[in-house]
Amino acid sequence: MAKIVVTGAAGNIAYSLLWRIAAGDVFGDEPVELTLLEIPDAMRAAEGTAMELADSALPLVRSIDVTDDAKKAFDGAEAAFLVGAKPRGKGESRADMLAANGRIFIAQGEAINAGAADGVRVLVVGNPANTNAYIASKAAPDVPKDRFNALMRLDHNRAQSMLAGHLGVAPASIERLVVWGNHSDTQFPDITYATTDGAPVEVDREWYTGEFIPRVAKRGAEIIDVRGKSSAASAASAAVDHMRDWVQGTSGRWATVALPSSGEYGVDEGLVFGFPATGDGQWRVVEGLELDDDQRARITANVEALRAEAAIADKLF
Ligand code: NAD
Ligand code: LMR
Repeated sequence: MAKIVVTGAAGNIAYSLLWRIAAGDVFGDEPVELTLLEIPDAMRAAEGTAMELADSALPLVRSIDVTDDAKKAFDGAEAAFLVGAKPRGKGESRADMLAANGRIFIAQGEAINAGAADGVRVLVVGNPANTNAYIASKAAPDVPKDRFNALMRLDHNRAQSMLAGHLGVAPASIERLVVWGNHSDTQFPDITYATTDGAPVEVDREWYTGEFIPRVAKRGAEIIDVRGKSSAASAASAAVDHMRDWVQGTSGRWATVALPSSGEYGVDEGLVFGFPATGDGQWRVVEGLELDDDQRARITANVEALRAEAAIADKLF
């Protein structure tokens, strides 16, 4: 039986994510105890979500608790989806959200430090996701850094889908794709190593740098513009993909995972950075890839952006 925490339980992403967890899409056939964490003002709405979840009579759900007490929520937690945070509106950058959201992740990191299960897996979704994961990890000094990830699987899925559309192939046929760096406009969706059905992908360079890279990187803003609200079901689906692959492994397939750097590819140690990784219960960054000058420059731009965000985050402590 696994105790799973979802924060921001009354929000848009949770409204999709909770059902996918409860249906066994993340942890397989294992029964789950769900804990929904909200702020006091949204407790009633979270209770409503819990009522609907109960009404779905999903066979793997053993209990559903709703609380506004972070210490209680994370006590004994084996996995946590840290979704609860303000989304950006039109014209804002995700980094603008640091002032509004950063402190949430100090309090939650401290609560995870105080009581989460050994080996807890924490996936930060709330923006700016990479730096919020950095903050939560810093607030949890007794929990190994590698237990904190940030969600960049949505960027990976967007890149996979757009590339597949361009090539006229099925998204599942695309492998060895990575989105390096930060879940922000500087992110670098990289198809240098990509294959489709095992064959190297070849695309026009102008399309790649002029259309594909900026469109993937700005897709979140495009969704906000068209939908009027930030992505929700696709974000939940990506969070399911990320946590499922972390727990169940990837059988050698690459995933994009934002995790605390150990210095791979020259990225400052500790920055939560999107890398190519495979999973077998724990993530292993794909090492030894050769990078040309253009790739290096794009990766460096992300290191610099995350360094600047980390400097702001450090002042919150
Ligand atoms: P939403 O506004 O619909 O819901 C957020 C919920 O979080 C609200 O119910 C709010 O009350 C709650 N909340 C705020 N502070 C909290 C706290 N301290 N503890 C618990 N709950 C708290 O927003 P949403 O659409 O669900 O998006 C949530 C976050 O996810 C946003 O920051 C958004 O930008 C981010 N996001 C990230 C990605 C990604 O790929 N990393 C994708 C989509 C959205
Ligand atoms: C996304 O990528 O869709 C989310 O991070 C929401 C946003 O602000 O872009």
